[in-house]
Amino acid sequence: MNMVTLIEKKKRGIVLSDEEIKELIKGFVKGEIPDYQVSALLMAIFFKGLSKEETFALTDAMRYSGDTIDLSSINGIKVDKHSTGGVGDKTTLVVAPLAAACGVPIAKMSGRGLGFTGGTVDKMESIPGFRTSMEAEEFLNQVNKIGMAVIGQSENITPADKKLYALRDVTSTVDNLGLISSSIMSKKLAAGSDAIVLDVKCGAGAFMEKLDEAVELAKMMVEIGSNAGRRTVAAITDMGQPLGVAVGNSIEVIEAIETLKGNGPEDITKLALKLSGIMVYLGGKASSPEEGQNMTRTALESGRGLAKLGEFIEAQGGDSAVIQDYSLFPQHTIEMELKSPKAGYIKAIETKRIGYASLYTGAGRATKDDILDLSAGIKIWKKIADKVDEGQTLAVLYGNDESKVAKALSIAQEAFVISDEPCESPQIIKEIIGL
Ligand code: URA
Repeated sequence: MNMVTLIEKKKRGIVLSDEEIKELIKGFVKGEIPDYQVSALLMAIFFKGLSKEETFALTDAMRYSGDTIDLSSINGIKVDKHSTGGVGDKTTLVVAPLAAACGVPIAKMSGRGLGFTGGTVDKMESIPGFRTSMEAEEFLNQVNKIGMAVIGQSENITPADKKLYALRDVTSTVDNLGLISSSIMSKKLAAGSDAIVLDVKCGAGAFMEKLDEAVELAKMMVEIGSNAGRRTVAAITDMGQPLGVAVGNSIEVIEAIETLKGNGPEDITKLALKLSGIMVYLGGKASSPEEGQNMTRTALESGRGLAKLGEFIEAQGGDSAVIQDYSLFPQHTIEMELKSPKAGYIKAIETKRIGYASLYTGAGRATKDDILDLSAGIKIWKKIADKVDEGQTLAVLYGNDESKVAKALSIAQEAFVISDEPCESPQIIKEIIGL
């Protein structure tokens, strides 16, 4: 394959064939095509886009670039859930136990945080003793035994996506519809579940800031999933402000536990019930998403969701006593308050800025190898449409390194936009696609 010809074609907006895309991915994974040529091609794709057929072909090539997971030894319809990434997104920790408590097997691989977004694997590792990696057999047995397992992505799943994503990250070519949808769906298809629920984030703290872009992304991913024979549903949900109150690791796990105790913030509770209801429906345990949601609401109110979380923590080596005793989590020693500079109403929150401020407290990583402070993070006490007085607390920042927390405070200070006029609170669920 001549790479220069391929770049030239894409530069002129000519559609690449399935064979060309297959060869490209094969050569790239083997190290036969240099990064500089793939970077040039990525930039051409960024400007000219990928057709639907090219996106399907790229998804397929990446899906089969490494191991694929066989979940056939797990009984029942396995349902996966994936978020496109956001700030304060602890939804999996609520949704998975609720769906599992209603009989839907969850065999899930989750990611780590990078940049302004957090990752479920880091959050789970704030639970003392919790293991996020295990052998395939143990993973499958755990799902058959207790109904759920969540681990980090295994090394050799979609290596092409890992390599390509790393290159996209440093060439400013992440935010492209065809590249994002193929990246996410190649991993989901390789991970083996029968049905997939996608939480497509939209707003200031998401890759897709505008609703029409998020809808387009959601439609493309639903189409890729359906084309591969997997029932796929996407919810477009608000990321115009952090989800819930907590942004960090242990503080997000605590918020998820509180949600399963029935004391969670309204936005997370609403979102978790909606998504888990769809999962229960796709898992064949309810005859409609509404019935599914009624079932997951009952699981929440009866405490069965919380009990399932406890079983899950124990099964993966963690200490489930954390559910009743939050002092068992890693502790911070430093707290700094962010005060409102004036009276008014919260009009907007620059959510990516909050994500980066959280990173600076020690809760996130700027590079793959950074070590996290699992106790660090931010609690956002004022959300969009809330009334504030001058000097009132907008947020509290936590950590163990004074200079880091102070730097985070200076970043977070710019995040709140305060208006004299009352504002409306955004709807958490904007649209559902594929039902
Ligand atoms: N998450 C992914 O896994 N891939 C992308 O391209 C963007 C978000």
